[in-house]
Amino acid sequence: MPAATAGELLADLRATVDVQLARAFSSDDRSVSALAAAIDYSLLAPGKRIRPILFLAAAEACGGSGSQLAPVAAAFELIHAYSLVHDDLPAMDDDVLRRGVPTSHVVYGEATAVLVGDALQARAFELVAGCDALGAEARVAIVALLARAAGWRGMVGGQYLDVDHERAGGSDLAALRDVHDRKTGALIAGAIEAGAIAAGADDDVQAACAAFGRELGWLFQLVDDLLDATGSAEALGKTPGKDARSGKVTAVDVYGSVDALRAAADEQLERCLALAMELPDAGGRLRRIARFVHGRDH
Ligand code: IPE
Ligand code: IPE
Ligand code: MG
Ligand code: MG
Ligand code: MG
Repeated sequence: MPAATAGELLADLRATVDVQLARAFSSDDRSVSALAAAIDYSLLAPGKRIRPILFLAAAEACGGSGSQLAPVAAAFELIHAYSLVHDDLPAMDDDVLRRGVPTSHVVYGEATAVLVGDALQARAFELVAGCDALGAEARVAIVALLARAAGWRGMVGGQYLDVDHERAGGSDLAALRDVHDRKTGALIAGAIEAGAIAAGADDDVQAACAAFGRELGWLFQLVDDLLDATGSAEALGKTPGKDARSGKVTAVDVYGSVDALRAAADEQLERCLALAMELPDAGGRLRRIARFVHGRDH
């Protein structure tokens, strides 16, 4: 049986997310309609929507309800979409293909691509702050969590270290894990922890969700590095082989070979599944998502 996509397995969650994303930048303010079109170009392109789906699945496992929390789910995708637009800029990874289409700066120019990222980031916080389904305390907690995950000690810090490693070269497993925990793990763990907060879970459950999320984030980036080394542009929707060509230290280098990295990813999946079993409802649909993250081809 061919591997199902996360979209097929979690069609209801994905639909909730996509409706919210499509309306995040709708406005009758005509002076910025061209900017909104540039934002939608990147935001609505066919990504996997893993982070918002994880948020909703975690909320669901903890007894929360889905569609009312859609603005918060979307916020995690907005931050992620901003990070991709900036990650592809010539000053960073200099990529021309993303989600199967030319990157934002190729189509709209660098200045607009920078602003697209900025606008996505700001709107993410606006969506969380304005989510009527949550009380004030939960909104503030999630705003703070999202800021921490996205910011200088989280994703942005990881992106900085990633670019810096590219210049400096040389790395070991612990250093690579630190970069990946920040650049990818923080937002993924944040989405899952936020799901627990939105569902009103207690501190222990929130911490368990965050711990599962950190391990899932590591699995996610191990597979991203693996696919960069082994995937095709057609399946990935982005240019493979970029990490090696730019001299980046990746999980393939640190584990020594593609096969060794595959074995590490298999082990990491088992770790994630074991942690999920400790969560309410044995992690609900989070276990399926972990299997998808491990087995994905894009
Ligand atoms: C790619 O993320 C960038 C990383 C953090 C590794 P995704 O693989 O989730 O990209 P989309 O959203 O599906 O395009
Ligand atoms: C990007 O990592 C992680 C972000 C926070 C955007 P990569 O540079 O490995 O992502 P891809 O491979 O371009 O999607
Ligand atoms: Mg990068
Ligand atoms: Mg990149
Ligand atoms: Mg990559």
